[in-house]
Amino acid sequence: LFANTALIACAYLLGSISSAILVCRALGLADPRTQGSGNPGATNVLRIGGPKARKAAAITLFGDSLKGFLPMFAAHLLGAMGLVDASAWLLAAVGLAAFLGHLYPVFFGFQGGKGVATALGVQFGLLLSLGAAVAAIWLFVAKVLKVSSASALVSMAAAPLLIWLLWPLHADSGTGVLVGMQTLMTLLLFWRHRSNIRNLLSGTEDRIGGANDSGA
Ligand code: G3P
Repeated sequence: LFANTALIACAYLLGSISSAILVCRALGLADPRTQGSGNPGATNVLRIGGPKARKAAAITLFGDSLKGFLPMFAAHLLGAMGLVDASAWLLAAVGLAAFLGHLYPVFFGFQGGKGVATALGVQFGLLLSLGAAVAAIWLFVAKVLKVSSASALVSMAAAPLLIWLLWPLHADSGTGVLVGMQTLMTLLLFWRHRSNIRNLLSGTEDRIGGANDSGA
């Protein structure tokens, strides 16, 4: 039990490290919380503009995904070694903890991001085929609509269904727990995107690489 709890706590702490804020600080860019939508995430770092911001956005996307991927990878590995309980419950708790760390980070006054990259990392860490499917939907919607939040909302709405389809190909049990965890993550992600949803409905949401800088 101690090892399980420690892993969940580590996932939350890792999730709490904001790639966007740290990378922008390291590269001498403006704090993303003061720019565009105010969101500390890859999309908003990109909005700062210029080649340095593009590099920072790529690192942010990678770093925030890793925060979801690594704890899930650790859970699989430690589970296989018999050091933690290898159940779907543990995978669900670890994934949710990393995601909640990103949304409500202990190191940044509990004011975090919207969770897209970290959720994607959790999905890749749970099942590579799941991560690939969600990423493919994200990319497809982004190519068609060129709106980051819309891609996130569509791909994350599909994620519970994808787990329901894909997890049984991998294991005999745990589908309900993991679908439940993803549904909770998707609902929280929608809640964090409520200003984006308002903008989408009123037709004022930013396009990726667009000139409009408002986002919020
Ligand atoms: O990953 C966050 C994205 O879905 C929306 O970000 O900055 O456009 O509100 P932003």
